[in-house]
Amino acid sequence: MTTTHDGHKRTNNKKLLAWVDQMAALCKPERIYWCDGSQEEYDRLCEELVDVGVYTRLNPEKRTNCYLARSHPSDVARVENRTFICSEKEEDAGPTNNWMDPKEMRAHLNEAFDGCMRGRTMYVIPFSMGPLGSPIAHIGVEITDSAYVVTNQRIMTRMGQGALDVLGADGDFVPCMHSVGAPLEPGQDDVAWPCEPDIEKKYISHFPETREIWSYGSGYGGNALLGKKCLALRIASVMARDEGWLAEHMLILGVESPDGEKTYVSAAFPSACGKTNFAMLIPPKEGFEDWKVTTIGDDIAWIKPNKEDGRFYAINPEYGYFGVAPGTNMNSNPNAMLSIQENSIFTNVALTDDGDVWWEGMTDEPPTHAIDWKGNDWTPASGIPAAHPNSRFTAPASQCPSIDPDWENPAGVPISAFIFGGRVSKNFPLVYQAYNWEHGVYMAATMGSEATAAAIGQEAMRRDPMAMLPFCGYNMADYWRHWLRIGRQNVATPPRIFRVNWFRKDEHGKFIWPGFGENMRALKWVVDRCRGRGVGIESPLGWVPSYEELNWEGLDFSREQYYSIMNIDREFARKEANDQEELFTRFGDHLPPEMELERQLQLARIFHSPGVWDIGMVSKQAA
Ligand code: OXD
Ligand code: MN
Repeated sequence: MTTTHDGHKRTNNKKLLAWVDQMAALCKPERIYWCDGSQEEYDRLCEELVDVGVYTRLNPEKRTNCYLARSHPSDVARVENRTFICSEKEEDAGPTNNWMDPKEMRAHLNEAFDGCMRGRTMYVIPFSMGPLGSPIAHIGVEITDSAYVVTNQRIMTRMGQGALDVLGADGDFVPCMHSVGAPLEPGQDDVAWPCEPDIEKKYISHFPETREIWSYGSGYGGNALLGKKCLALRIASVMARDEGWLAEHMLILGVESPDGEKTYVSAAFPSACGKTNFAMLIPPKEGFEDWKVTTIGDDIAWIKPNKEDGRFYAINPEYGYFGVAPGTNMNSNPNAMLSIQENSIFTNVALTDDGDVWWEGMTDEPPTHAIDWKGNDWTPASGIPAAHPNSRFTAPASQCPSIDPDWENPAGVPISAFIFGGRVSKNFPLVYQAYNWEHGVYMAATMGSEATAAAIGQEAMRRDPMAMLPFCGYNMADYWRHWLRIGRQNVATPPRIFRVNWFRKDEHGKFIWPGFGENMRALKWVVDRCRGRGVGIESPLGWVPSYEELNWEGLDFSREQYYSIMNIDREFARKEANDQEELFTRFGDHLPPEMELERQLQLARIFHSPGVWDIGMVSKQAA
């Protein structure tokens, strides 16, 4: 092992050393710092951030070893319209991604990064996405000028010397270049949250062919913690296509029945559908006494088919949670609340007078006074949220009470089901199962959530195929083709595919299904089906459970209510299947023929199976 620039023994990986030299020459930082990932380093950096006013140390009696950061008010979320897939050919990015010619993008980036770290430290963060040395894991190295990023990355990834050791002399890594885009002139005072405030000058760029990430101008979340959406989804989806695996926007959970049998499932939901809550679900006390749900991951799954047994094995590439704070409370997600008691970083939440954090929905009663996410005095009478709606906690996954004993198993856990869920107020049943792999891929590809299109005063479906719309690093239709192929190539059966919908509303606009822990009732049916036990009724959308097939113990939910969240309206279903054509035609020749065939089969089932598919009628007749 040779020495690095600052004289410490760290790596002799030539590619890495050359890249760091090259980036230093471009960005012209004041100094270079290689992160070792130690606790001592983390504490020191946090302390430095407290000294310069970026972090506020929270009351250690309330939150041990926790910090609060407030971002610049313009830098609060992922910037999808400034996220680019710079493939050589535009069609390889596809119609759902922003594309820019890689040469043009490189010209922009070379200009933006030139001298962008003047007066700042350039941190080199080696990290592993996935357990160190796992055959499913990959190494990335992020270069950044933000110590906020370094401290968050230590929670979100396995970061430091361990990753360099895995990389070795010849290993390959994904270079992740990041700058907040705010160089300091000599004598210039720094601000608490440096960033490029002009949105047009922010770039979150991906080069799929060369597997590089370049992010400029933002210090927030997925724009800056480049292991997460940029590497583990956009670049990894391309790697997965080329290498025969899946990089998915999915949580992973385990269900253990009273007899000790364990079933793992992976589930994809668009952002803001309660994914973290589902990943950490606590089964209802009544009816599920000896059932246990365990958490492997809450956002991303890397899944590899095993050539030997034909099963799909998944790891959570992340090491922590970057969860949305508002709405998280001891009812909606006690496991998340317990995970953020210590060693966590909070961004853009409110600070209470006793040095703790608060956000909308955390408690029934708001505090009488707090400092809001912008640093201003706040009271319930202020009439504005105290925490930003996209405020976040960054917490170590190991602190989750429901963490699965196998969450760091390098071999991953075998997945029995893929669950896809959108947010739809009508027609889509609580839970149903695809008839086969192709049908399931079609179901996942056409999923979406309702968005209110204010202009036309109607509810329109925002399609979010596999919940990957903002995260697929290549042409979405080619991605569907990859899914179709991967389900066919293996010796045994791939996971069964399900759709769920927790969000049906009654005529008064109220949610019918109680959600949260009660989702266990649908999850158990999924598990039953995977274990060959559930029965199911054939509906035009897929297999649906009869009322009798779900466990209702401890929940007062009538047969009529059940019908109201399971019924499929023929006219609505027809319109929905017709609307999907618009999605498909966008992809031209890239669309796999199976997708259109499945849509036609769907329409045929809607037309030709009168009555049989009306779960309400069938069960009523049976009753
Ligand atoms: C996330 C997202 O932050 O999906 O996880 O937007
Ligand atoms: Mn996500």
